[in-house]
Amino acid sequence: MLFEAFKKKKKDHEIDLSNLPRHIGVIMDGNGRWAKKRGLPRSAGHKAGAESLKKIVTEANELGVEYITVYAFSTENWKRPQAEVDYLMDLLMDYLINAEKTLAGENVRIRAIGSRAELSEEMRRQIKKTEELTKDRSGIVMNIALNYGGREELVHAARVIGAAVKNGGLEPESITEEDIEKSLYTAGQPDVDLLIRTSGEQRLSNFMLWQVSYAEMVFVNKLWPDFKPKDLIECIKIFQGRGRRFGGI
Ligand code: IPE
Ligand code: IPE
Ligand code: MG
Repeated sequence: MLFEAFKKKKKDHEIDLSNLPRHIGVIMDGNGRWAKKRGLPRSAGHKAGAESLKKIVTEANELGVEYITVYAFSTENWKRPQAEVDYLMDLLMDYLINAEKTLAGENVRIRAIGSRAELSEEMRRQIKKTEELTKDRSGIVMNIALNYGGREELVHAARVIGAAVKNGGLEPESITEEDIEKSLYTAGQPDVDLLIRTSGEQRLSNFMLWQVSYAEMVFVNKLWPDFKPKDLIECIKIFQGRGRRFGGI
């Protein structure tokens, strides 16, 4: 990018770069409705949604956001017709395979969060490969929530902690919030500061129940494939206009 263009870009967005959310969570909703409005199959909406995702991650990384978690497939999404589930899995597989090329310039570190046991052997292998290939990069950490459910994550944490108790390393009365935090898929990462959900729905749908405890929530009416980098900037501005108190005064 030319320096002039770079300067303009920085000036245009008018957000305070010293007060960025460290971790943004995104519930990417509305792909199906986007397709329906155009008389297209739902799959076309998911494809357009994947394009939207690339642009948003790039923008978040350029701004200097440290973590972004995107809800790609919930533990409840298996209820959808098999053809749609298969399409979503293929799309996610492509995303992981291409991540090295498409997101290389942006230096994105990719991780998958969620339960892997129900995923195909091929998908599990690809996740490992992509995580390994991108782990030493220096840019934003992108968590792809894939077969993810907030409740399942807490069950998983309970099992980890239960095993530590059983093995005698941990007394039940000494279990702390830190022990739970360390047993989540997002261990070591900061809590979500800003949660964005598109499509006008105002619910969590089982997304990051522990990590959003003090997140600022921004609900956007646009459908996910219509959500553009400038909309992300708008959400960050709204975040920066909020007074966070964390229970204090
Ligand atoms: C979000 O879009 C993508 C996934 C859940 C995978 P939807 O597919 O939920 O789109 P709507 O909500 O039906 O419009
Ligand atoms: C949440 O969207 C899951 C993802 C965005 C992956 P859904 O479309 O599945 O949520 P509900 O069913 O409207 O609550
Ligand atoms: Mg939906």
